[in-house]
Amino acid sequence: MSVVFNEQEKTFTLSNGRIQYVMQLFLEGYLGHLHFGKALKHFNAKRAFYQTEREGAPNPDLHADARTFSLDVLPQEYPIYGSGDYRIPALEATLANGTTTLDLRYKSHAIFTGKKALESLPSSYVKGNEATTLEITMQEVAGDLEVVLAYTIFDDCDVITRHSRITNVGKEPIALRKAASLAIDFPSDEYDRVSLWGKHAFERNIERTPLNHGIEIASSTRGATSHQHHNFLALCPHNTDEFQGEVYASTLVWSGNFEAATEVSPYGNTRMVLGINGFDFKWMLKPGETFTTPEALLVYSDEGFNGMSQQFHYFVQEHLVRGVHQHEPRPVLVNSWEAAYMDFNEDSIVNFAKDAVKLGAELIVLDDGWFGVRDKDNCSLGDWVEINHRKLPNGIKGLCDRIHGLGAKFGLWVEPEMVSPNSNLFRAHPDWALGVPGHVRAQQRNQYVLDLSRQDVRDYIVNSICEVLGSADIDYVKWDMNRNLTDIGSVAFPAEQQQEIATRFQLGVYDIMKRITEAFPNILFESCAGGGRRFDMGIICYMPQTWTSDNTDEVCRQKIQYGTSLMFPPITMGCHVSACPNHQVGRTTPMLSRFVCAMSGSFGYEMDLGKLSEAEQQEVAGHIALYKELRNTIQFGKFYRLMSPFEGTKNETAWQFVAKDGSEVVVMYFKNVCLPQGNIRQLRLVGLDDNATYKVTKHMFSTSTAANALDYLSNYNLEGDVFGGDELMHFGLNMDKVDSDFAAYLLVFKRQ
Ligand code: DGJ
Repeated sequence: MSVVFNEQEKTFTLSNGRIQYVMQLFLEGYLGHLHFGKALKHFNAKRAFYQTEREGAPNPDLHADARTFSLDVLPQEYPIYGSGDYRIPALEATLANGTTTLDLRYKSHAIFTGKKALESLPSSYVKGNEATTLEITMQEVAGDLEVVLAYTIFDDCDVITRHSRITNVGKEPIALRKAASLAIDFPSDEYDRVSLWGKHAFERNIERTPLNHGIEIASSTRGATSHQHHNFLALCPHNTDEFQGEVYASTLVWSGNFEAATEVSPYGNTRMVLGINGFDFKWMLKPGETFTTPEALLVYSDEGFNGMSQQFHYFVQEHLVRGVHQHEPRPVLVNSWEAAYMDFNEDSIVNFAKDAVKLGAELIVLDDGWFGVRDKDNCSLGDWVEINHRKLPNGIKGLCDRIHGLGAKFGLWVEPEMVSPNSNLFRAHPDWALGVPGHVRAQQRNQYVLDLSRQDVRDYIVNSICEVLGSADIDYVKWDMNRNLTDIGSVAFPAEQQQEIATRFQLGVYDIMKRITEAFPNILFESCAGGGRRFDMGIICYMPQTWTSDNTDEVCRQKIQYGTSLMFPPITMGCHVSACPNHQVGRTTPMLSRFVCAMSGSFGYEMDLGKLSEAEQQEVAGHIALYKELRNTIQFGKFYRLMSPFEGTKNETAWQFVAKDGSEVVVMYFKNVCLPQGNIRQLRLVGLDDNATYKVTKHMFSTSTAANALDYLSNYNLEGDVFGGDELMHFGLNMDKVDSDFAAYLLVFKRQ
């Protein structure tokens, strides 16, 4: 691994022998981008910039004669507006003299081993010397603004992190209007653009389209990453697929408003810019102050999208997730929400827990409704220390102790960022909710958002949540966030700082998450935001798993989990079996099919297991036992996507786990709707040893017609059969004839 400045060629090169990032200074200190991709053994920087005259492209004064030099044509490292480049800028500011025209030039640089944490922001970390950092300081020519561009390259994975620090070195305030975390100019427009879209209960659908000329943006103005879009963006040549081809991917360690943009220029290159959304953003930078952008992650893979995901998965587990649970197997949990909603009491939860523990559950979670007078979602958020003694006469501790007495762990739901208009907290402090004087606030789910830009509000929340969490021996917390931001204003800040509030809110969220999770290092925190509104790299720095979606329907979940797995390893995804008909879409699917889907992550149940028949309970006990047997491979193994629900027949999904040491392979294949005369399907596996043989130790199959399932298993059961690694990878497995809907196959192989 190395970071080198070549004095002669004026190049900066970051390389770990597999990936490489090259920049070059040219003329009077402009910083150009040369290469991001595969590590190159030889690189002729002299020939790297393609310079030619373009009519209409401005040339800086000093080079008016050299008409081949224009910022509008050359690839830039941190582009700005006003000195010749008309494409999307990374930085926009209004300087003290009123100008919005900027001109950034190289001032100095530093190279050091390791990596610094980002101030007030979540960021990746290193344990030892497995990373090297380059910081390049750029100066605005008029002298009032300094920008540090920070890059870290890692030895143990193919990820580069970037962020910028913008400092007012002048004597007057400067208004920052946009500060991206990264910009990259790619030397081609022959790419597909891959992004994620969704909605509540249908998050992270993959969208892949060829790039168009002009600007395309995925963004959020909702004060959270959002159900609707994700701050993930990838470019790839048209022929890249899951298994081969190049991918250039990026995402932000950030959970607030963002924009992820591409711009294809008429000259055939593509700019990618990611960062905090410049829309409705203005940050007043006083003399001496610094604004730090969120960290961006860049991944390059030449092994297709699976290669990209494996880099992200490793990075999440080793450089973002921290704390005692990082490498700990995650417990099988049973959550009360869909079982009881807010209609419960201590005894009913204990009975619910008894039924679950009998079947093998390890963690019982009491969801919403345990505080204030909350029987419906229209009150009491904020009144955390007012335990509802009608439902829980012995408080949280009484219930927690009884659950522990059953031999299970105990977890609790909270939603610290919110306040109900009908709450003692809001009645006492109406100005503690975000709002604009003279405006009526918008409600969503009968609630307002607390003004976490304020220290006093943050302190109150930290103290009251800590009081509850400290009142019993709580093992797990589900941290929810059920609405988007509106009426983004704070009475605690002056008029000229109102456009800082959305960003300050997010920094406030990180502050309370940090303080609360650090106060309870042994609690396993799972983040949730109306399902998966905030499944991002920022929150994962505080909470090692996330509730993937409120939608637990097996068919929808295939897409949701498939899309989420682009960046996030299965261990981070909360995946539960719920009752049928499904509460979100009304579909009835077989228990085993639901299990095969939910067992592909951090597994649990979202239902009252005591309401199942004796036979169903036995089935559940078997599923839980099997999950525990396979948990190591599923939670800590390598994950491969095999068949996409977004492509091909769009009716099938398949994925696979390989144990870290290669000894066990778990394959899941789903075929949702039965079609007449269906296609032959030979499912090929990946990542096996060509020279080894693999024995099927478990073969489970389910479909909506029990007779069909029995018939299938009596004819095609592969348990005990042995296959070659090469056979499984290059010939595949025949997925046989199925005559009904919602078929799911589970195959477990052991290497011989
Ligand atoms: C939304 C979450 O996603 C659900 O799982 C549940 O916790 C409810 N909130 C509780 O209000």
